[in-house]
Amino acid sequence: MPTIGILCGGGDAPGLNPVIRAVTKYGAGQRGWKLIGIEDSFNGVFERPYRIRLLTPIACKGLLGRGGTVLGTTNHGNPFKLADGADHSTQLVKALGELGIEGLIVIGGDGTMKICQQLIDERGIKIVGVPKTIDNDLSATDVTFGFQSAVDCATDALDRLHTTAASHDRVQVLEVMGRDAGWIALHAGISGGADVVIVPEIPWEAARVVRKIEERRANGRPFSMIIVAEGAVPLGERIKPGKAGQAVCDAVEQLLPNAEVRLTVLGHLQRGGSPVAYDRLLATRMGVGAVDLVEAGRWGEMVRLRDGRIEGVPITDAIATYRHVDSQSELLRTARAVGIELGA
Ligand code: F6P
Repeated sequence: MPTIGILCGGGDAPGLNPVIRAVTKYGAGQRGWKLIGIEDSFNGVFERPYRIRLLTPIACKGLLGRGGTVLGTTNHGNPFKLADGADHSTQLVKALGELGIEGLIVIGGDGTMKICQQLIDERGIKIVGVPKTIDNDLSATDVTFGFQSAVDCATDALDRLHTTAASHDRVQVLEVMGRDAGWIALHAGISGGADVVIVPEIPWEAARVVRKIEERRANGRPFSMIIVAEGAVPLGERIKPGKAGQAVCDAVEQLLPNAEVRLTVLGHLQRGGSPVAYDRLLATRMGVGAVDLVEAGRWGEMVRLRDGRIEGVPITDAIATYRHVDSQSELLRTARAVGIELGA
C-alpha cells in the first residue's frame, strides 16, 4: 500500500479540513494508504524532528465543519525560496524519500500550484493538486471551495450594514477581499442588494458612484450600500494598497459633503469560521477526486469541478490563465439589469 503525503499551501480557506478528512477517510480508511500530514505547507519536513502526523479516519473526527486547517499553512513555504532565501527543494526530495512518501496531495491556490509544477518539472516529485482559494480566481475549475463561505460572509455583512445604513440615512461602504479578481464583491453585491459594486477589473469613476447615490436620494432612498473589492482602483489614479474602501469613502465625501459615509473592512472574517454546506460538499468531492487521481496514477493533475462533474486537469493547464471577471460576464449583465452601478 502506498505512503502518500498531504499538505496545504498559501492562505487558508474554509474547506481545507473537509478535504483532509475526505482524503483520509477514502485514501487511508478505504484504500489502505499510509497517509502522512505535513504541517505548515512543505515546511514540516525542513525541520527535525519532522513536523508530520499520521492521518487516520479516527483522527479526523469533527473536521467537516471546522474552519482553517489542522495541518497549518503558510505563504512562506516555497521550497525553492524558503524564508532564509535559499533553495531547499532537494532537501524536500530527500525528506520524502526518508519518509517513504511516494507522492503528495497538495491543496493550494494559484501560487502553490505553480510551485507544484516546478517541483514536478525540476525535482520529479509526484503531485496531485486540489484547488483552494476564497477568491475563485483559478480558471481551470468552475468554483473553488472557500469561495461560497466568503460570499456568504460578505452577504451577511451587507445585510447587517443595510439596516444600520437605512436607520441613519448613511452611505455604507464594505471592503471585501479580492486583490486581482472581484468575484466576492460581485457575488455578494448581487446577493446582498448592493447599490454599487466595485471590482478590480473595472476602474471606477467617482462621478458615477455619486450619481447613483443622488438618484436613490431623489427616489426616496436616502441611504446607499457600496461593496468594493480590496484591489479596486479609481480610474486614472493610484491609491495605496489596502486603501480601496477608504478611497471610495473619500471620493463620496468630497463630492457629496452632506453625506455621512462609513467604512467596514471585512478582512479575514471572510476566511475564518466554518465552511458553508456548499463548500463542505465541494471540498469532500474534491478530496475523493484527488484520491481517485492518485489511484489512477494521474500524477501532475489537479482535481477540478467542470460542468458539475469532478475530474482531473493537468496542473500546467490549471495555472495557464487567471480567472478575472470579464467584461462580457453574464453576472455583470445581471448586476446592471437589477440597477447596480459598476462604477464605469
Ligand atoms: O488569496 C486569498 C486572499 O484571502 C486574498 O483575497 C487576500 O488579498 C489575501 O489572501 C490576504 O492574504 P494574507 O492572509 O496573507 O493577508
